[in-house]
Amino acid sequence: MATLALDSLGMAGPATPTAAAGGPAITAARGEAGPGGTGTVRFENVSKTYRSAGGEIRALDDVSLDIPSGAIFGIIGRSGAGKSTLLRTVNRLEEPTSGRVLVDGERIAALRTDGLVALRRRIGMIFQHFNLLSAKTVRQNVALPLKVQGVGRAETARRVEEALRLVGLEGKAEAYPSRLSGGQKQRVGIARALVSGPEILLCDEATSALDPETTLSILGLLRDINRRLNLTIILITHEMSVIREICTDVVVLEAGRVAEAGPVWRLFGAPEHPATRALLAPLTRDLSSDLSDRLMPYPAPGARAVLRITYSGRTPPDLSALVAATGGAVQLLQAGVERIQGHAVGRLLIAAEGPEAEARLRAIGETVEGVGYVAADD
Ligand SMILES: Nc1ncnc2c1ncn2[C@@H]1O[C@H](COP(=O)(O)OP(=O)(O)OP(=O)(O)O)[C@@H](O)[C@H]1O
Ligand SMILES: [Mg+2]
Repeated sequence: MATLALDSLGMAGPATPTAAAGGPAITAARGEAGPGGTGTVRFENVSKTYRSAGGEIRALDDVSLDIPSGAIFGIIGRSGAGKSTLLRTVNRLEEPTSGRVLVDGERIAALRTDGLVALRRRIGMIFQHFNLLSAKTVRQNVALPLKVQGVGRAETARRVEEALRLVGLEGKAEAYPSRLSGGQKQRVGIARALVSGPEILLCDEATSALDPETTLSILGLLRDINRRLNLTIILITHEMSVIREICTDVVVLEAGRVAEAGPVWRLFGAPEHPATRALLAPLTRDLSSDLSDRLMPYPAPGARAVLRITYSGRTPPDLSALVAATGGAVQLLQAGVERIQGHAVGRLLIAAEGPEAEARLRAIGETVEGVGYVAADD
């Protein structure tokens, strides 16, 4: 048995005899809520220091965070910010140096062998490079966690069928991974993660190796299983579009610390921390270079004020109010407003005449800032 591979999948450990009796189906295996609810994760002052010959690396620094049941929770941050380390503390692939991690209200550091095995059964994990065993068929790959648990043949067959159906791979059960596309391989990875009936799914850059179209289909699948199974999903990604597409909440890590956390619409609509702004910069391309080249810091005679209006609330831009507030002399220079979780999020760049426009817009409740001035004939 490939102990190494199992270890990296968080599956290693002795089978408990009770599992052999034949566990419930995927959808029914869940729902045994602990005191904190099903699929909740709480980090309390979690720190992690790696010690090596070269010195110490503080990968996590006093991270406190609540992940509610049923969330699709994104973890973002630069390379080396501590994302994988944080994710891996949830199933104890990493042990914090200090602080506590609670799953369903239970302090997981206290779990001994059987408890840890049971915990890892409740927490599935998928990876960037799928980590499939190439000499085994799709069916055998998906069945692997159940084999480790000692689940009987008939029960295994039933659960594997169900998992393959959930990910839309019914017809590929006998195929070998080498015959599958990247998206299909990740579906196998997801089926293997679901087959034990987890309540939490950890995804470490699960779509990074996929093309944009396949990424969208995998994100659609994750959203679907999140809803159908009320599965809490915690995902790491470098693609901000992935966060925008499916996450409900997001945390930004910077050098092991929480820079900012909250609902996606709020962080994307009004990012406060410089680390968040830097990460979102490609999405929120603000001033085009031709415009920034023409910007003047001071109002030359007849120049128009360039104003940035930010939307991070429920109300979409009210254009007639903008026109009224600016006395009708308003030009839309750039616009990027989209809907995230029912909120209008984004910004408008307008050019308005008169220095009072900014104050009048603020008076009607707009979040507005002056960016500079452009000459009247621009
Ligand atoms: N096993 C380890 N031993 C020593 N240092 C480690 C170990 N694992 C991670 N680190 C260090 O801890 C820090 C955080 O690493 P981590 O893998 O959590 O970052 P990350 O945010 O996932 O980065 P990436 O986006 O590149 O995957 C980095 O400085 C990394 O070099
Ligand atoms: Mg990582």
